[in-house]
Amino acid sequence: MTQDELKKAVGWAALKYVQPGTIVGVGTGSTAAHFIDALGSIRHQIDGAVSSSEASTQKLKSLGIPVLDLNEVDSLAIYVDGADEINGAMQMIKGGGAALTREKIIAAVADRFICIADASKQVDVLGKFPLPVEVIPMARSFVARELVKLGGLPEYRQQVVTDNGNIILDVHNLSILDAVALEKAINALPGVVTVGLFATRGADIALIGSPDGVKTIER
Ligand code: A5P
Repeated sequence: MTQDELKKAVGWAALKYVQPGTIVGVGTGSTAAHFIDALGSIRHQIDGAVSSSEASTQKLKSLGIPVLDLNEVDSLAIYVDGADEINGAMQMIKGGGAALTREKIIAAVADRFICIADASKQVDVLGKFPLPVEVIPMARSFVARELVKLGGLPEYRQQVVTDNGNIILDVHNLSILDAVALEKAINALPGVVTVGLFATRGADIALIGSPDGVKTIER
């Protein structure tokens, strides 16, 4: 099976967590795009979606799924999204698609975070995938210097402006042993909007796609 077929398998497997008559939190990226396709097949059974990016919003709308403003929504039963890395404690690196801030906000609202990923995203230690950090543009150099002090090698993601009008620094050279502490330390830097470490609020369920099938891991 190709990696995209594995992503498709987990995207469709997540449908079983969608309750009829609810609003669904929807992530961003190539795996989440398969989940959106799956959601389209039951669009008459759900009340709509809350979206984590302009790209996912466009795709949801193209399939006839109403997209609601998060401010109109009191609660969400589930948030379904991919990950760049996930460890055994269900902590993740996210933001390869630059949508980390909206992803983190919706994940915070949802009762359950369902991570959908192919098996290549499973790691023992987070950090081989460069850690994305969304930064207010004027703080770019300052935050980069502070990230060096934390042991990372930040790289400015060229030509990328987030949906919120900010820039992304991708931090290389990290071996993240205490993800909660690093998440707090980076989030505390002035100028940082969000770090793509999802440790304080990790996944509740992971659907992992491999050639043997979709494995379900529950926290
Ligand atoms: C988007 O900003 C990311 O958090 C994605 O969830 C992550 O990059 C996984 O992307 P793929 O599903 O495309 O691998």
